[in-house]
Amino acid sequence: MADIDLSALTLSLPEIDEDHAASVELWRAAAAAGPAEFVERLAAFVEHLGEHFAREEALMRAVAYKEIAHHVAEHARTLGEAHRFLDQARAGRTVMARAYVAEMVPDWFRRHVLMFDSEVARVVKLARPSPDPAVVDG
Ligand SMILES: [Fe+2]
Ligand SMILES: [Fe+2]
Repeated sequence: MADIDLSALTLSLPEIDEDHAASVELWRAAAAAGPAEFVERLAAFVEHLGEHFAREEALMRAVAYKEIAHHVAEHARTLGEAHRFLDQARAGRTVMARAYVAEMVPDWFRRHVLMFDSEVARVVKLARPSPDPAVVDG
């Protein structure tokens, strides 16, 4: 199974980086789950993903991010897909949900962070007052 290398995906914006670390932790738990825990762990990953997306969207609104509609549409598409696999798993059909977790999520996660979230982080950092250099150097 592919892993997600978080060190290559750091955006240096703590609120987004922390959500990404939490998503990856929940994803790893779902990917490693045995049959008894798989549905519950997939549900925890999907639930957190919705919260993670909502926090990112609030950040985008706070800086009047110009590409918000495209990014929100990508979040909605992703969350809809995740819920469809979760519904299948809840109905006892876990083969495709397992493949989604093992194969699709890692690729999606890397692409989404690099294509979508990195630009949000760049714009949010530009919109914030620069830190006091004395504090940074100190
Ligand atoms: Fe994100
Ligand atoms: Fe995002």
